[in-house]
Amino acid sequence: MDWHIERLLNRISFFLATVATLSLLHLFFRSSLSCAPSPLHRRTQSQPQALTLTLSPFPRSSCDAASRDVVTPEKRFQKLRSTRAFSRRVQSFSSLFLSLRSLGLLSNASHVLCVSAGAGHEVSALQESGVADVTGVEVVDFPPLVKRADPHNLPFFDGVFDLGFSTGFAAALFPSRFVAEIERTVRRGGATVLAVDGWSTKVGVEGVYKLFQRSSLLEVRNFTLDGSPMTLVVMRNHHNSSENY
Ligand SMILES: *[C@@H]1O[C@H](CO)[C@@H](O)[C@H](O)[C@H]1NC(C)=O
Ligand SMILES: *[C@@H]1O[C@H](CO)[C@@H](O)[C@H](O)[C@H]1NC(C)=O
Ligand SMILES: *[C@@H]1O[C@H](CO)[C@@H](O)[C@H](O)[C@H]1NC(C)=O
Repeated sequence: MDWHIERLLNRISFFLATVATLSLLHLFFRSSLSCAPSPLHRRTQSQPQALTLTLSPFPRSSCDAASRDVVTPEKRFQKLRSTRAFSRRVQSFSSLFLSLRSLGLLSNASHVLCVSAGAGHEVSALQESGVADVTGVEVVDFPPLVKRADPHNLPFFDGVFDLGFSTGFAAALFPSRFVAEIERTVRRGGATVLAVDGWSTKVGVEGVYKLFQRSSLLEVRNFTLDGSPMTLVVMRNHHNSSENY
């Protein structure tokens, strides 16, 4: 009886082992059959995925690097400087400054301050004409020609410039403060020159030069700056309160 049971159990285990082996073989074949094309698929599909997965931090950082590269101030300026619009505007400023030279308000030795200088077209024009000491400021930094400074609170001592120039008066938040600051930094005998947007400004030209506390009107002139009609207001600084010196 024991022997029968043992034989039966052996048969059962043999059967089970066979079933297991067959199912393993079946699985193996099925997988090798169905997987045969799939490794190719995998190689073409999942490998790039694996690549993108493993590389995903890299493109991000290299993208960052690339965008940082593009936004490099020097590159940005080089790109801007190479445009025709830039040189046209610089040309326009050049002819304006030539007229200031003939008025005796500007020379190569002048210390010039350009307020609200944007990307620095006027700074570029002055430097190209041979003026060595030009300072350009704007509410935002625009290297290499323009530094950051608040036009209503200029970071310069009194009377350190021979010429203060700006095209930014019309856009100034506090026009009288704007004028007071540029006037403060210009020396006695120096000049403040404002190129004001549009020939008919809201306050009128009189409204502009009446904001000056210690300068006298030298000239008002209409001119065209890079295609835009502007009014030039030239003020001679005559302040002689000795406490400033
Ligand atoms: C100013 O400097 C420029 C460039 O160096 C020169 O060509 C020009 O003759 C100078 N102008 C005067 C008036 O010295
Ligand atoms: C400038 O142009 C305006 C508008 O045409 C005119 O009213 C004004 O008299 C001109 N000013 C000068 C100084 O020519
Ligand atoms: C300052 O200069 C102006 C113009 O030259 C003159 O009218 C005024 O009297 C001077 N003021 C003083 C305090 O010297």
